[in-house]
Amino acid sequence: MLIAHLTDLHIRPRGKPAYRVSETNALTERAIDAIAALRPRPDLVVITGDLTDCGLPEEYALLEAMLRRLPMPVLLVPGNHDRRETLLAGLSFDPRSLREDGFVQFCADLGPMRLIGLDTLLPGQSAGALCGTRLAFLDKALTEAQGRPVAIFMHHPPFDCGIRHMDAIRLLEGAEEFAAIVARHPNVERILCGHHHRPIVTRFAGTLAQIAPSVTHQVTLDLTEEGAATFHMEPPAYLLHSYDPVAGFVSHTAYVERYPGPYPFVLDADYPGAQA
Ligand SMILES: [Fe+2]
Ligand SMILES: [Fe+2]
Repeated sequence: MLIAHLTDLHIRPRGKPAYRVSETNALTERAIDAIAALRPRPDLVVITGDLTDCGLPEEYALLEAMLRRLPMPVLLVPGNHDRRETLLAGLSFDPRSLREDGFVQFCADLGPMRLIGLDTLLPGQSAGALCGTRLAFLDKALTEAQGRPVAIFMHHPPFDCGIRHMDAIRLLEGAEEFAAIVARHPNVERILCGHHHRPIVTRFAGTLAQIAPSVTHQVTLDLTEEGAATFHMEPPAYLLHSYDPVAGFVSHTAYVERYPGPYPFVLDADYPGAQA
């Protein structure tokens, strides 16, 4: 079982780079092409929010056309840059994605695993929230998993990472209740987030919480008190999650671009294990 996990596409109207610098549409297309060419082919793509930069109908129309190039199903949740109603009107959805309560969430069983997507969008705010309705959805989906391994996907990370301006806009409302629910379910293999545009991992509520890098621009790694909100065009990347009953849930960071190689490991005679 293989899942390609993309995040923070920030699609803009044609011809408008995000923040006047980041060519997010072209970068997203490159990521989609890279995933479509992967072997073995992922069973599923999950996108953890900030699908568009401003939540405009034109942005969702461009994204919809790009996603149609993927030969596997796509599940997604919104981020703070999305607008829920425009998103729902502009994208076609895997049937497992739409919930009756109006949030853009999902609960999907894939092989032995249960995948849960949470909508942490708080309209008009950069920080994330989980209300009682969404927390109840999580609790029910976890209970119904009956001990099967679970991965939870959500845009806003529920933990502090030391990048101050991002910590200020992480999951805030409902974060403690979220941690309490996760702690009651030891079958949660991973909490998988976006939003911070960097690869970050920590221990959280008895499991691992992991942030995927963006397929577009990356937030500057600045752990100083006064660190300003800026970004760098570091290598775009995504996560590849695999699961099998022996190895468990394993997450690889994969780069969108191709780099020189592959080269064989040709051993010199002075290598310690070389035969005399
Ligand atoms: Fe983002
Ligand atoms: Fe975000």
